Amino acid sequence: MVEPGSGYLACGMTGPGRLADPEEIVAAIDSEARKRHDLEGETVLITAGPTQEPLDPVRYLTNRSSGKMGYALAEAAAARGAKVVLISGPVHLAPPRGVEVISVRTAVEMRAKVMENLGPAHIVIKSAAVADFHLSKVPDQKVKKTAARISLELDPTPDILAELGRKKDDRLLIGFAAETQNLVQEARRKLESKNCDMVVGNLVGGADVGFESDQNEVILVLRTGETIPLERASKREIADRIFDQVLKLRLALHAANGR
Ligand code: PMT
Repeated sequence: MVEPGSGYLACGMTGPGRLADPEEIVAAIDSEARKRHDLEGETVLITAGPTQEPLDPVRYLTNRSSGKMGYALAEAAAARGAKVVLISGPVHLAPPRGVEVISVRTAVEMRAKVMENLGPAHIVIKSAAVADFHLSKVPDQKVKKTAARISLELDPTPDILAELGRKKDDRLLIGFAAETQNLVQEARRKLESKNCDMVVGNLVGGADVGFESDQNEVILVLRTGETIPLERASKREIADRIFDQVLKLRLALHAANGR
């Protein structure tokens, strides 16, 4: 059901009763048409976007993540019938239909919200580009410009994926690896060291895939040693291909647990 839009009406009154925004109608039809319901009954926890790590009240460290990959994953999971919780860093994207979005700013805040929402999750996908370093003591006042060189001493942020790997139980844990070289090797290293079921290797640094782009091209690295390249497509299409593989992993997990 697409509800009517609100505003000034032909009868002279103001309120709900206008034709809904055509883009909203198209999005609703698209989402219904894509529905396969093969994730019904699953709760999926997804992280998306960058984090911002303050340096003082007016400056921060961040990265190029737009959130598009994570939001596409959330939209795909919801369209396939999952209950989706999306923990998002600061992005300029509309919340996907039917998805609970929790906004955070820093890696520390993202960690807190992920752990708070982990309980009911059957599938966790960490597509956020979490900052690896931050200032653990942020000055209260703006740092003044002087002629002298200054240096920043940064501490590592909490490694959320590694902590999830330690608390995995019988969840499926999917990590991402954004790399500029040795993609498969690095993805495999992250798969092992963070106890993931699958890592999505994403070559970044170029302009047409990876960060910011509407398209992506990734390689799925599995515990079996198998690698599955997903050729260039829209992030929404890549998201569906990732869930196709997640479903195979879930079936294998259920079979192993005798469900
Ligand atoms: O947002 P877009 O513009 O659409 O771009 C998509 C993307 C390139 C950001 C996405 O596809 C991607 O590759 N996401 C992972 C980015 C990243 O931080 O990769 P990493 O190799 O640095 O981290 C490895 C994994 O550890 C990731 O799952 C990350 O979420 C997680 N991590 C990293 C640091 C940290 N402190 N905690 C974490 O949980």
